[in-house]
Amino acid sequence: MFSSIFDSLNRLFKPKNPRMELVSLRPWENGPIPVEMPDLPSMLNFKEKKLLYWLTAEFYRGTGAIVELGTFLGSSTAHLAEGLLANSQVESKMIHSYDLFAAGPFEAKWLTERFGLSAAPGYNFRHLFSENVEKYADILTVTEGDICDSAWTGGEIEILFVDLCKTHAINDFVIMEYFPHLVPGSLLIQEDYIHGALGWLHTTMELLSSYAVPVADTDTNSMVYYIKKPIPQSALKRCLWDATTFDEKMKLMDRAIERLDTQKKREMVTAAKNQLVNICRREKLAA
Ligand SMILES: C[S@@+](CC[C@H](N)C(=O)[O-])C[C@H]1O[C@@H](n2cnc3c(N)ncnc32)[C@H](O)[C@@H]1O
Repeated sequence: MFSSIFDSLNRLFKPKNPRMELVSLRPWENGPIPVEMPDLPSMLNFKEKKLLYWLTAEFYRGTGAIVELGTFLGSSTAHLAEGLLANSQVESKMIHSYDLFAAGPFEAKWLTERFGLSAAPGYNFRHLFSENVEKYADILTVTEGDICDSAWTGGEIEILFVDLCKTHAINDFVIMEYFPHLVPGSLLIQEDYIHGALGWLHTTMELLSSYAVPVADTDTNSMVYYIKKPIPQSALKRCLWDATTFDEKMKLMDRAIERLDTQKKREMVTAAKNQLVNICRREKLAA
């Protein structure tokens, strides 16, 4: 009798997947990054930097590609690259990085304020990125241009870091071009998830909740998803902006907010919900 109770308890508490369980323990928080990182301008918080380093140093097994969408000046690139260099499990090392490298109003303001550059929107910052990540050039494949003109032909993706879905049109493109290559065991990092904008990330991830399990976060910004089964095209199409009504979007936002574990995170995602309401109103008026 005792053994059957023990078996049931064991089944209940046994991690469903040891790699998913490992990520849920946030091991990157346990210590400093074990190498000296170049001091690069960054839009990431320190926990995200540690997460990216850990992902490529410890989690990555080389069963699929590492894809970074949105580099800006190369901070995320450098953390992924240093981790990958430290990874003794894999021989073939490559990171596929994408950016427009042309400043939008937000990036232009950032470059002007931090660098004293008179960077107007449209300013090309590729040279700054290239200088910053020169050390890793051998393990980087960099694609410059609008992500919506890209095509992913590199097969399965093991780690997908997404930090450029600043509009729902870009989000739609990334879903259809990159998400089909996520496979069971892959990780998807949505950088702008615990943040007060970009509600399409939340509606998307709610609709994909049977395929992509939220396993860890970095308190602000990034949410990490473990892919537990292949995502069919029908489920991806359901995530596109025009595939849900306003009321459905609101219900999905409420579900995303309820799922969060602190009031601070719930407040941030509530701000994203409010932002989504404003965007929907503006688009309705313009239609
Ligand atoms: C928040 S920043 C990335 C920050 C970066 N990961 C870091 O570590 O600091 C977002 C980036 O997305 C890029 N971006 C925005 N829209 C894009 C598009 N349509 N195609 C390609 N890149 C785009 C911007 O140029 C910007 O560098």
